[in-house]
Amino acid sequence: VTVRRVPPDVVLPLRHAVLRTGRRWADAIYAADSDPLSAHFAAISQLDATVLAVGSVLPEAPDWDESSPQEVAGPTWRARGMAARAGSRGAGLGTLVLRGLLDHVTSQGGGLVWCTARLLAVSLYERAGLRARGEPTVVPGLGPHQVMWGIVPTSSVGPIGGAVPICGSPSDRTEPPTVPASQE
Ligand SMILES: CC(C)(COP(=O)(O)OP(=O)(O)OC[C@H]1O[C@@H](n2cnc3c(N)ncnc32)[C@H](O)[C@@H]1OP(=O)(O)O)[C@@H](O)C(=O)NCCC(=O)NCCS
Repeated sequence: VTVRRVPPDVVLPLRHAVLRTGRRWADAIYAADSDPLSAHFAAISQLDATVLAVGSVLPEAPDWDESSPQEVAGPTWRARGMAARAGSRGAGLGTLVLRGLLDHVTSQGGGLVWCTARLLAVSLYERAGLRARGEPTVVPGLGPHQVMWGIVPTSSVGPIGGAVPICGSPSDRTEPPTVPASQE
């Protein structure tokens, strides 16, 4: 299996099949899919070129009043469309795809990354360093989701030290989770 950056049309069939099952093709397309800053990653079988897992990261502000801390330039990012083929789940491919997405953010200068995770996938994002924000809410038609977020550092200089108060109103500010740099 190889994990690499691919054009959006490579991730769309699996995204549609897994995350928008039985719905219109257009429901699987995100507005920022073709944004030049967006990145799409796929785990692809080297045996027969089957796309086994996919994910995307897109420049998109979260729906809470937030921006990246001053130390981190650039846009805020949404990880989205994580999907693995039914027979290929639990083997680490989603983790590798997510690592690719976070490495893309690093290469773009780092920044705040967020997602709305299906509850089954929360531990996947937690292992990558993201943390839950607030309580799960129901996304109409898609079931309960948990907002997750983290700060991706800008480069190999490592995680930003100290508490950067960027979350929510002053009264409920918390230390932001810092996504660890890639081990590879
Ligand atoms: C979520 C998903 C993309 C992860 O890909 P993956 O290759 O299975 O991921 P990994 O093997 O690297 O990690 C497994 C993690 O995936 C998540 N997961 C979700 N559904 C899963 C399933 N049916 N089988 C195994 N893991 C699943 C869990 O968080 C699991 O973490 P855990 O081992 O701590 O329980 C994939 O399981 C999938 O497509 N699930 C259905 C669609 C979905 O829920 N997408 C998430 C949208 S936010």
